[in-house]
Amino acid sequence: MDDRGSLVVIENGDGINFDIQRIYFLSQFTGGQSRGFHAHRDLKQLLICLKGRCEVTCDNGTQRETAVLDNPTHGLVIGPMIWREMHNFSQDCVLLAVASQKYDEGDYIRDYKMFIKEAKNAEQ
Ligand code: TYD
Repeated sequence: MDDRGSLVVIENGDGINFDIQRIYFLSQFTGGQSRGFHAHRDLKQLLICLKGRCEVTCDNGTQRETAVLDNPTHGLVIGPMIWREMHNFSQDCVLLAVASQKYDEGDYIRDYKMFIKEAKNAEQ
């Protein structure tokens, strides 16, 4: 931050434990929508709420925790095999996602029962 405003940098190797392959953002929330409801088998992600606020619930198969994202200088890293749900987006929310892989539908687990089964198998 200086008298011209704020500059926030995301750089490979600095605070994130993966190489960046893809960036996308979610915006234009008209109210009431939730998103996510999936896990990734391999993908790692960094989520940063650039504007507004939202809540991200992370579930590792045994525990669920909810984080409020409302600060563009803070990020939430989500590793593989974490079920995530995003709720309570403010209408002005802009949620940036920085990802370790290109889009691959095969990496998604979109069924919660399947996620629990795969998470239990991975533990053994
Ligand atoms: P999805 O990851 O399910 O969104 P969210 O978790 O935010 O609810 O993606 C929504 C749709 O967009 C789905 O059909 C896949 C598509 N999509 C892409 O084509 N490329 C991408 O990089 C992403 C993230 C999604």
